[in-house]
Amino acid sequence: MTEPAPPDALIRFENLKKSFGPKRIYDGLNLSVQKGETLTVIGGSGTGKSVLLKCLIGLLSPDRGKVWFEGQDLAAFTDAQFQPVRKKVAMVFQGAALFDSLTVGENIAYPLYEHFPEMPVDELREKVAQKLALVNLPGIEAMRPSDLSGGMRKRVGLARAIAVDPEVILWDEPTTGLDPISTRIIDELILSMKRTLGCTSVVVTHDMESAFAVSDRIAMLANKRIVQVGTVDEMRQSKLPDVRAFFDARAGATRRA
Ligand SMILES: Nc1ncnc2c1ncn2[C@@H]1O[C@H](COP(=O)(O)OP(=O)(O)O)[C@@H](O)[C@H]1O
Ligand SMILES: [Mg+2]
Repeated sequence: MTEPAPPDALIRFENLKKSFGPKRIYDGLNLSVQKGETLTVIGGSGTGKSVLLKCLIGLLSPDRGKVWFEGQDLAAFTDAQFQPVRKKVAMVFQGAALFDSLTVGENIAYPLYEHFPEMPVDELREKVAQKLALVNLPGIEAMRPSDLSGGMRKRVGLARAIAVDPEVILWDEPTTGLDPISTRIIDELILSMKRTLGCTSVVVTHDMESAFAVSDRIAMLANKRIVQVGTVDEMRQSKLPDVRAFFDARAGATRRA
């Protein structure tokens, strides 16, 4: 299924093909993300959701096809060419790996040192404080990651990811393993990044409640391609067997939990 590319798409995966050894992950995947929208990618475990995000920040590259971002094809970019992209596109990783030897404040300042070595110390401090306030953890600069709960660590990971004021945030399973309250806080953060900063978000999740809460559109990855993209309502009403099966399995999991 080929999606006609809207002219104003900020991100566009075009006819992506990717294999790991004999294992084919994508066979002609197409997906567009509009500027300012929150698009959630759903799909079974191991279908290539994380790989898709990694292609956007240069951790992996497709074998064939294009990864358009702001009119440039990232698929053939070198590591050096990716540097400016990484200032604009931030990834919130599954495990929010903070540096345990650094304080919370130093963790958040880290990407700022890296990308803006010239930034004056007071501006740096100000940015760190601002980001901690955004994730509802003001004033915890001096704490150590080991002193934080799992939910707090995730939020510090987010504060670090957004330290450089990215235009795009990639969220890889941001609520996995979190309690319901922390999960709702993360959902609220995804919504507020869009509302207050105008960020474009691509979210990977298998938490359907989160997907319904945060998404402008949802894309279903199955059979090595995107089989359907639509609004929350359109996806809920989907007749596509792949989508139905995924939703029904998830509903069952939620009821059993
Ligand atoms: N760097 C890699 N080397 C080899 N295989 C990989 C690599 N990254 C991912 N894979 C494989 O690609 C498939 C898709 O991975 P991934 O995108 O992480 O799945 P998910 O949809 O669960 O996020 C999986 O089978 C995974 O084992
Ligand atoms: Mg994954």
